[in-house]
Amino acid sequence: MSTAAQPTQVRDEQEFERQPEPYKTAVRKIVRSHAVNELYGAQVFDEPAIALAPTPYAKWLTCRVAMEEYGHHVRFRELGEKIGIPQAEMLPAGKKPLSIFEFPMTTWAEFCVIKLLADMAEILQVEDLATCSFHPLRNLARMTMPEERFHAQFGREFCQELCKTAEGKQAVQDAIDRYFPMLPAFFGADGSANNAKFRQFGIKQRKNEEMRADYLKRAKELVEELGLTLPTLPKAA
Ligand SMILES: [Fe+2]
Ligand SMILES: [Fe+2]
Repeated sequence: MSTAAQPTQVRDEQEFERQPEPYKTAVRKIVRSHAVNELYGAQVFDEPAIALAPTPYAKWLTCRVAMEEYGHHVRFRELGEKIGIPQAEMLPAGKKPLSIFEFPMTTWAEFCVIKLLADMAEILQVEDLATCSFHPLRNLARMTMPEERFHAQFGREFCQELCKTAEGKQAVQDAIDRYFPMLPAFFGADGSANNAKFRQFGIKQRKNEEMRADYLKRAKELVEELGLTLPTLPKAA
């Protein structure tokens, strides 16, 4: 735990307006990034996955996941509008989405692995925001959390299901081998100046490198639970 002075708590959008410009810029950066990435993820992964789902039951749950991911975008965008982020900046065309969305998903096994690994990464981010000094963002993170947990659980259960057959297990391992190397970068650079500001303002709690280390530990446990392995990452990751 930090020994620094407690950061100011910002209870609503009116109080937000009165905060120093660097605080407002930092909060807007996070809200903008979530609005863009939730939408882009829904467009490139969750919605197309409905067509890949093998059974009516799997399609039903995938529809629910897609609905919730679009819902996350809508909620973050609504908050963004209240704190002065131009609408265009909250769309993938206005701001480049993260590289984890560049994975070319073409199979159901790949989608299940994306939910298993990427939504676990998202859970860590949302956990970190759940004690954020800007309360509307904190509340949004708390509201989003059970849904992100459902997505990760969805990934885990469908991966378990696939792993019951030899080909399924091979397909899941293969998707993990290709997708997992994209994930460590999701947490940002070590020693990031942006992250230092987020922590100074009490917007985020942990360093990028701490979150990444925690993620790698949790991802390893998750994958080993399936009887699979994580690929070795290149040194720079
Ligand atoms: Fe989400
Ligand atoms: Fe999710």
